[in-house]
Amino acid sequence: MSNAVEYELQGDIAVLKAQNPPVNALGYDVRIGLVAGIEQAEADGARAVLIYGDGRTYFAGADIREFGKPPREPLLTAVCERIESSPLLVVSSMHGTALGGGLEVAMSTHYRVAVASAKVGLPEVLLGILPGAGGTQRLPRLIGTQAALDMITTGRHVGAAEALELGVIDKINDGSPLENGLNYVRELLEQGAPRRVTSELPASEALDFDALYETILKKGRGQISPAVAMRAVQASVELPFAEGMKRERELFMELMATDQRQGLIHSFFSERAVSKLPELKGVEPRPVAAIGVIGGGTMGAGIATSALLAGLDVTLIEMNAEAAEAARGRIESNLTGALKRGKITAEKYDAMTGKALALSTDYSALGDVDLVVEAVFEEMSVKKDVFAKLDAACKPGAVLATNTSYLDVNEIATSTSRPKDVIGLHFFSPAHVMKLLEVVVADDTAPDVVATAFALGKKMGKISVRAGVCDGFIGNRILRHYRAAADHMILDGASPYQIDKALTDFGFAMGPYAVADLAGLDIGWAMRKRLAPTRDARERVPKYIDQICEAGHFGQKTGKGYYDYSGGKRGGVPNAEVMDLITAERAELGITPQDFTDADIVRRYMAAMVNEAARVVGEGIARRPLDVDMTFLFGYGFPRYYGGPLKWADLQGLPALLADIQAYAEKDPYFWQPAPLLEQLVAEGRTFDDLNKQASS
Ligand code: CAA
Repeated sequence: MSNAVEYELQGDIAVLKAQNPPVNALGYDVRIGLVAGIEQAEADGARAVLIYGDGRTYFAGADIREFGKPPREPLLTAVCERIESSPLLVVSSMHGTALGGGLEVAMSTHYRVAVASAKVGLPEVLLGILPGAGGTQRLPRLIGTQAALDMITTGRHVGAAEALELGVIDKINDGSPLENGLNYVRELLEQGAPRRVTSELPASEALDFDALYETILKKGRGQISPAVAMRAVQASVELPFAEGMKRERELFMELMATDQRQGLIHSFFSERAVSKLPELKGVEPRPVAAIGVIGGGTMGAGIATSALLAGLDVTLIEMNAEAAEAARGRIESNLTGALKRGKITAEKYDAMTGKALALSTDYSALGDVDLVVEAVFEEMSVKKDVFAKLDAACKPGAVLATNTSYLDVNEIATSTSRPKDVIGLHFFSPAHVMKLLEVVVADDTAPDVVATAFALGKKMGKISVRAGVCDGFIGNRILRHYRAAADHMILDGASPYQIDKALTDFGFAMGPYAVADLAGLDIGWAMRKRLAPTRDARERVPKYIDQICEAGHFGQKTGKGYYDYSGGKRGGVPNAEVMDLITAERAELGITPQDFTDADIVRRYMAAMVNEAARVVGEGIARRPLDVDMTFLFGYGFPRYYGGPLKWADLQGLPALLADIQAYAEKDPYFWQPAPLLEQLVAEGRTFDDLNKQASS
């Protein structure tokens, strides 16, 4: 018998204990072990079989690492059928998370008991596939079509109490999974409970499936797995079980072959790999219980909110009492939002806005804090002034962090006597909502300061990405580049509105010009002015948007920008003045506008993104391609199902992408210089993902 499933006969009950740490994924050895265990139990003349998981959980699903490799028999479907058709009474005892294939195994056993803290779910659509071992056929039979569709198309985790109410499980009992399970099996045997075979239950109710398909497809914003999974559920209603299983298999294989499946699985593993840095192995973070925040604008208040939600004490410094009051107002409003959404209790709210939060205008209030994040005006002299004050006020060993988006962290560090303690912590606005945290490591930053930053990010529920120092770090540096590609397309003939539409159709939540209006056009204006003195003469920078800014239009906050928001329509309508200014600028530059298809727009935009990302990786600003991918997923609304810009590039094929960049370079050789790393990968026939694998091996 396989080591992954331990067999033991306890009286007339055969106990199968899965032991495949860390999450008892249903890999080949476990599947073999389950079948062998059932066979052994039957041969031993047991009356019943109990299946449970050792360690932290019942089966958390199929082994995702096996996806994309040739399947090895027995497939999970066959394992489930073998379990369900056993003449013995088979029972699952669940704890932790019974997910995906795990819940499918549980549904093929005849009864299910769980501890109160257990969670169940079919999260396959989140990996770009569908429950492929009978989940779409058995769950509707157990709990009805509507409830099954909700679980299958959202992939949400359902707590034990709700699972009991729905009928996914039969009983909740606390105790060890073994004790719990044995007690339940004995109870069932005493009652003479019959085997209850899920696949033999009558089919569930029919719904208007075509209408539902359209609704689910639309909700997926380009992601297809939820809608396809719905079709499999439909088959469970309309076809006999065996044929429904065949249909489920076909649809499963279809999804398995998609790029979306590859993208989503890349996202799953990269999300976990991103904050695992080899150089931090064994490095102890410094303890952080209280933090300081300098500046209580939108960003500072968001950072303070995030820290309070993570259970930290916060001291926020503002310039004067009035500004401090305004900062308190922002934080309270953020926390009220969390209270309303049920994320915190009223008691927690009171503690967070009471004892845990102090406001001051005096840096000496920071004497005891363990870490400070500065979020003041984005200007080097202002930042340096703040850091000199922090150097004087903070205790030795306190981490001094800047939330700058672009500025040189090395230079900021020079205004202190302790550059080892200085680091960049680049939050994204609103900081209590956005998941991304760029941890910017300067030349002298000590390893335990980096470890402290990652530990803080984890506490705050962020996805932390290590970045090196350069203008814009990982995300904003790449953003500036592809935004420039979009700006060039406008000069050459596209409109901002066509670009926004092409990119939202591609899958972005918003197009770049709608985002610019939301963020405030003054930000880009200030940046263009800052970069003007060092700008290369060959760089193409449009002037029309400066004219919009000069007229006092900064986007949503002033009611006008690329779009006009005065009519009250959500998202605004195109601002007619913008097209007039663009037309005038084209005429001035002697440009004859050319047509761009939506596909051309996406291709150029993405090519610029990938090319700059390749430079960022090549220069070591991002250590691995997956660091760029996670930056874009969690900070820039990049569709998760593409896996990130560099996974997208791999799936498109790097040689074709490089060829396009070379073709674009014929007209604008300055902007479209191919990144050396991209050229190297193409020459060697390798992918960005090969570099990820190399980094983790
Ligand atoms: N297969 C392989 N490895 C898995 C895995 C799986 N199904 N689930 C988790 N792991 C790995 C993680 O990659 C991680 O590995 P490292 O330590 O090397 O990074 C380790 O197990 C621990 O996972 P987490 O860090 O995520 O631990 P957690 O406690 O935060 O979360 C969890 C545990 C809720 C189970 C979470 O890991 C999770 O959601 N896993 C995916 C569950 C899932 O999607 N199951 C469905 C699989 S598809 C399927 O079953 C198809 C089918 O129908 C046949």
